[in-house]
Amino acid sequence: MASSRLKRVEESATIKVANIATKLKQQGVDVISFSLGEPDFDTPKHICDAAADAMYRGETHYTPSAGIPELREAVANKLRTENKLDVSGSDVLVTPGAKQAIFEIMLTILDDGDEAILFDPAWVSYDSAIKFAGANTVWVPTDTHDNFKPQDIEEHITDKTRIIVVNTPGNPTGAVYDRKTLRNIADVAIDHDIFVLSDEIYEKIIYDREHISLGSMEGMQDRTITVNGFSKAYAMTGWRLGYVCARPDIFDGMLKIQSHSVSSATSFVQYGGLAALQGPQEPVTEMVEKFRVRRDILVQGLNDIGIKCQTPGGAFYAFADVSEFGNGDEVSEKLLVDAHVAVTPGSAFGESGRDFIRISYATSQERIKEGLLRIESALT
Ligand SMILES: Cc1ncc(COP(=O)(O)O)c(C=O)c1O
Repeated sequence: MASSRLKRVEESATIKVANIATKLKQQGVDVISFSLGEPDFDTPKHICDAAADAMYRGETHYTPSAGIPELREAVANKLRTENKLDVSGSDVLVTPGAKQAIFEIMLTILDDGDEAILFDPAWVSYDSAIKFAGANTVWVPTDTHDNFKPQDIEEHITDKTRIIVVNTPGNPTGAVYDRKTLRNIADVAIDHDIFVLSDEIYEKIIYDREHISLGSMEGMQDRTITVNGFSKAYAMTGWRLGYVCARPDIFDGMLKIQSHSVSSATSFVQYGGLAALQGPQEPVTEMVEKFRVRRDILVQGLNDIGIKCQTPGGAFYAFADVSEFGNGDEVSEKLLVDAHVAVTPGSAFGESGRDFIRISYATSQERIKEGLLRIESALT
């Protein structure tokens, strides 16, 4: 029998939809997949070359659990210059993906019965990580009409609250929080002596807006645990490489978990990460420009069909209100079965996503246009 801890955690709904879509594809059906969260671009060549060189050079052994010193230094340098965080290499833990970092944070900070705050809707794995750690998620509603800003955070704080999770630019909404919104969150965290997990994995995929790192705000350095990674910015999802920086006591906890579980991120992959940070950044800019064009086609197209969709400021997701056509679950099923278009029901991300679907535009313009035609004929 599975453990009671495991029973509290549900299968990821994003993967569930993707599995149905895969089955249809295996039957030869042409499914347009708007469901998965990864760039459809290849990893830039110089990154692949650096990893391959490292492998052939013999960098195929265990590395220090916290990561190779060169990469930790390069990450710290990036965090200092781009994110205005006051960190050094010794504060940086290199992880096999941001997801692993998030699990390590929750296991380090949370005890049984503690509470963690998520803004509803939120990416699926936060809730799972909180539950794996034995704690409970407290959902704070967001204003679904105004950039999914969290509302009344303070009312949800109890003496058990230990951490608030902030994700900007965000999955599933694409919302980018401005300074005022982040200041409000920071003030609550400071007033109640709570940690903040700042997941900045989409920071580079942002359109005409400023990305602000919570840890750079006054009073936040010591209570912010900043997570980031290479998956989205450098199209490196399969490499499994991320990082986290935190104050020493939290860092030590995470390192302990990492060293006893996965040991470290893969040796030669870390050299790929080094090349990503130190090499040309044009591939990132080019990718973001393509995402922007796709975003505009998709959002315009959805609104033309009568599906209300705010323009996301970042990431590669549109979070569209389908309430005119049914709830998000019904519409997702209809689109998959009738139109062979795979989207993710908004309910997967929390209660306030009930009337929404998440559409990932990490797919070509042609497929987006074809998908819009199919959605229109299925729903209207
Ligand atoms: C908000 C958010 N954080 C973290 C991750 C995980 O990133 P990684 O591939 O580095 O584990 C994802 C992936 O979908 C994500 O959407």
